Formats: sequence, C-alpha cells, structure tokens
Amino acid sequence: MKNKFPDNFLWGAATSSHQVEGDNTLNDWWEWEQAGNTEPSGKACDHYNRFKEDFRIAKDLGHNAHRLSLEWSRLEKEEGVWDASEWDHYKAIIDELKSLEIEPILTLNHFTLPSWLSHKGGWQNKDIIRLFSRFAIKAVKELGEKVQYWIPINEPYIAAFLSYFKGEWPPCEKNFDSALLAAKNMLEAHVEAYSLMHEAARSSSSIMKPKIGVAKAVTAFHPCSKYSLSDRVVTHLRNMFYNHSFIDSALKGKTDLFPFVKGKELPSSKALDFIGLNYYFRQFVHHEKPFKKHPIGEICDYGHHNIGKINNMGWEMYPRGLYEVVRSFSRYRLPIMITENGTSVDDDNMRKNFIKGHLTQLLKAINEGSPVIGYLHWSLMDNFEWAHGYKQKFGLVEVDFNTQKRTVRESARYYSSIITSGTI
Ligand code: GCO
Repeated sequence: MKNKFPDNFLWGAATSSHQVEGDNTLNDWWEWEQAGNTEPSGKACDHYNRFKEDFRIAKDLGHNAHRLSLEWSRLEKEEGVWDASEWDHYKAIIDELKSLEIEPILTLNHFTLPSWLSHKGGWQNKDIIRLFSRFAIKAVKELGEKVQYWIPINEPYIAAFLSYFKGEWPPCEKNFDSALLAAKNMLEAHVEAYSLMHEAARSSSSIMKPKIGVAKAVTAFHPCSKYSLSDRVVTHLRNMFYNHSFIDSALKGKTDLFPFVKGKELPSSKALDFIGLNYYFRQFVHHEKPFKKHPIGEICDYGHHNIGKINNMGWEMYPRGLYEVVRSFSRYRLPIMITENGTSVDDDNMRKNFIKGHLTQLLKAINEGSPVIGYLHWSLMDNFEWAHGYKQKFGLVEVDFNTQKRTVRESARYYSSIITSGTI
C-alpha cells in the first residue's frame, strides 16, 4: 500500500470574499450586519488590499492551490452594469496566484448576494437563474484564460435552509417551502451556468476547458442509537444524507429535490466535473416528526453519545468522518476535492491534531481507491464567521483585527510539513 498522497495533489486553504476582503458594503450580509443582527464584518482581514502578503504566506507554507470567491456585489454594483475596475482587481488576484504557482479554485457565489438582487427576492426570485448565469459567463470570459477550477455555488442547501427555513441568516425566513424554492433555484442556476460556461469555453480559443464542481456541505451520518430505527428508516436517512443530494440531481440533469419535489428535465445531462466536499463534523440522526418537514431526519444533540472533543462551534471533531464521506461519494466516479475542512479552537495544538487525524483518514480513503485530487483547509486565516462574527478562529494564520498583523500558527507549519513530505 502506498503511503503517500498522489503526485500533483492540490494542497492549500480556502477563503470567501465577504469573510476576508472587508468593506463589502453592497451586499445583503452587510445590510443585515448594519441593522444590528450580528457583529459587523467591517474591514475583515483587509484581504482586498493585502492579498499579496497573504498569498506570500500561503506560498511559504508550500500551498500550491487556493480557493477564493468573487464578490458579485462589487462586480455588478447595479443590475446590468459591470464594474471594469473590479474585474481588473480579481484579474490581479488571479495573476498573483499564478505567478506564485498557486492554482486558483474560484467560487462564484459564497453566500452573499448584491443588495439590488436581494431586494428583488434573491433566491426566491426565478430571475436569479438568468442573472446568475449571466454573471457566470462574464466570469469565465474575463478569467477563464487562467482559471480552470470553478465552483458556481458554495453549499447550496445550507444557504437555502439557514436563510429561508431556519431564519438564522438574511433574509431570516422560516418557511420550509421558501427554502425548497431557494434550493431549486440554486440547482437550476448551477446547471444552467454549467452548460453556458462550457459553451463559452468551447467557442473561444483562449478560455481553458473549465472543470466545474460544487462545494457540498456534508456531515458524517450516524443513526442515533437512542431510537431503535428500523433498517428501512436508516437506509432512507442515509440516502437523504448521501444520495438524494444536489449531486444526484445535477448529475441526472433534473431539478428534483429529495424524492418528493419533482423538477424539470434540464438541457445538460451531467452538470458536474468534480465533487467538492466541505466536511466538518458528524451528526447523529433519528426520525420522529413528519417526513415532509424533516426529510433528512432530525439531528440529535450529542448528550447521550460517546463522542470526541467538541470545538468552539459546538461541533464534534471526528476525523474518521472524512474517510466515511469520501468513501461514500466515491461511488460517483468523479474526482473529489476536499473544498473545506477545519476547526475553530483556542488551543492550536488541537488544530494540529485535527489536521493530523483528518489527513490520516483522507490518505486511508485514497489508498482504498478514492479519486481525491486535493485538500483545502478552512481557512487560510482567521476571518468573519458569519452570524458568529470574529470570535471563531478557523485560521492557519492568526489575524489581529486591530492591527491586521498576521502570525503563522504552529498548526500551519505542521500542515506545511505534510505538504512537503507528501505523507503523514
Ligand atoms: C460554510 C462556509 C464557510 C464557513 C465554514 C466554517 O461552510 O459555512 O463555506 O464560509 O466559514 O464552513 O463554518
């Protein structure tokens, strides 16, 4: 058995525009923060101005890939008007990464929407499919000479459910049907963008053939031992977690959502070139309440389970879960990229152990044949953790938000040593 990560493995970290750039004043999150709903993102890591310094740190740590997102609200400040200087800004970012031989992995939408779009209903408005596709084509035309890995939408179902069902993120709705509609529009927007981006590349000699994936939030599914669930229910719940996902629908070219929302046939028969997985923790699942409102079951609190250490987000650190999800998603026979995996802890030694544990499990999955092409740690640096603000520390690099001073953590150096040796 080889005990090394594959040659040409993509190693790096991930960020998103609103969490690191600072002063993203024209999106729905900024508005929500200003209304007093959570700590304001403000200057964040000032990465908009300090990206060169930050990429230099990534380079020195041996990273050869970096995941980041475009801030749509900067690029299209008003509906239908592109801001050329902002496109130049992102070109400069991509050029900087390329000059450091760091492969860019570009997300088009990482949770935030331009304010003008959220005012007209955001993901509830079907017009978003056309508007998002137009943005995706523009992006591939502007940046496709240098970018080959694309992620149209980050964690589609999470965004839909936290914003429209749980009421935890703007626009804070609590309506299951609204969440389903948002998820459906996201799926259609993804599939449409997928075919149009490929088409744009085919009709141009300078655009690289894109590799388009999704960054799917996935937890390790475990049936709750407190309830005696029948095999049929466990199989059903497991399917909901792993099978009836965005991925199945995108691959079948249908907009079906779960088994009960029938969608339409889409023009493309396969709308994914790779699968991105964002893995953080395990969940124990049971099923008591009505199916329609709880299609993926109910999540158990951790109380009666014998589990590992909990991080500052309240999430169990469960390295074997990375192996479990990668093995499960290998069935699609598409390349898998770990597009996020990380933890928020005060004791950096725990982050080091987290990295060690998870990469050990990832290597085990690879040794058993899983087609994993890269691992991107969340995150390069401490940043704005959405409704949790700045108290959560996910960074390989510590940021002092008063001075913007960066300090490389020991865990980052440990991760770097794994990158250099290609093994654990
Ligand atoms: C998400 C996002 C990231 C988060 C990270 C830690 O999964 O919510 O992609 O933006 O910051 O997952 O919670």
